[in-house]
Amino acid sequence: MGKGKLNKFQEIETFNHVIEPDVKNFVEHNHRLKGKWHAEFFKNENSIILELGCGKGEYSVGLSKLFPNKNFVGVDIKGARIWRGAKTSLEENINNIAFLRTRIELINSFFAENEVDEIWITFPDPQLKKRRTKKRLTSTIFLHNYQKILKQNSIVHLKTDSRFLFDYTNALVKLNELEIIKNTTDLYDENWIDDVLSIQTHYEKLHIDEGDTIHYISFYLDKNKTLIEPDFQSEDD
Ligand SMILES: C[S@@+](CC[C@H](N)C(=O)[O-])C[C@H]1O[C@@H](n2cnc3c(N)ncnc32)[C@H](O)[C@@H]1O
Repeated sequence: MGKGKLNKFQEIETFNHVIEPDVKNFVEHNHRLKGKWHAEFFKNENSIILELGCGKGEYSVGLSKLFPNKNFVGVDIKGARIWRGAKTSLEENINNIAFLRTRIELINSFFAENEVDEIWITFPDPQLKKRRTKKRLTSTIFLHNYQKILKQNSIVHLKTDSRFLFDYTNALVKLNELEIIKNTTDLYDENWIDDVLSIQTHYEKLHIDEGDTIHYISFYLDKNKTLIEPDFQSEDD
């Protein structure tokens, strides 16, 4: 491991707003903060918004500055990336943000039923292969997990450079008759881009530099529906 990464791992351990669970201790028993983020971590009753696969956390940091009366949790498995957002939020004295280092597959071990108000998914790996469908962060497997932790009809946002993932998510949302809020194949071509949608992540900037188009969909997730996977053309193995 490089020295820079090692330094980040050491420093991140000193950050009180970064939760790096020891997997052995919580998989069977749930994490100690599950159901207690308001009372024991944020110490307020404000909404909790997750960014899944947050990377360096630009969206979480940007949103936390725009909405000081909401709480944000950036979730990613990579500590060296989370370090960036955690360091910036510390330097800028932002106190309505936390970072959680875990696999998103385990999100239900960290948040209780109805504890979360909104989810952002920013530039996830599209998982093009058919056998990887279950790994897509907008697949029914993940959405069923999100249904448990979200309040009824909370908003899920997806920002992506992948036309494949955008079309797949659209197909799933439409098949399951989830109510769409905004839906565009070319975010920057629309005149409703605002302070929230103009926040750019590390990967978004890379894609824009390469001339890629940015796609965006947001929809209400009905907790009471058992969702069906769309019959969507994926790449064969
Ligand atoms: C392409 S990057 C995008 C990062 C950031 N959202 C951005 O736009 O710059 C995808 C991120 O998702 C994280 N990730 C992918 N699958 C994950 C999983 N199952 N659990 C936790 N993090 C995951 C990766 O570590 C990586 O940081």
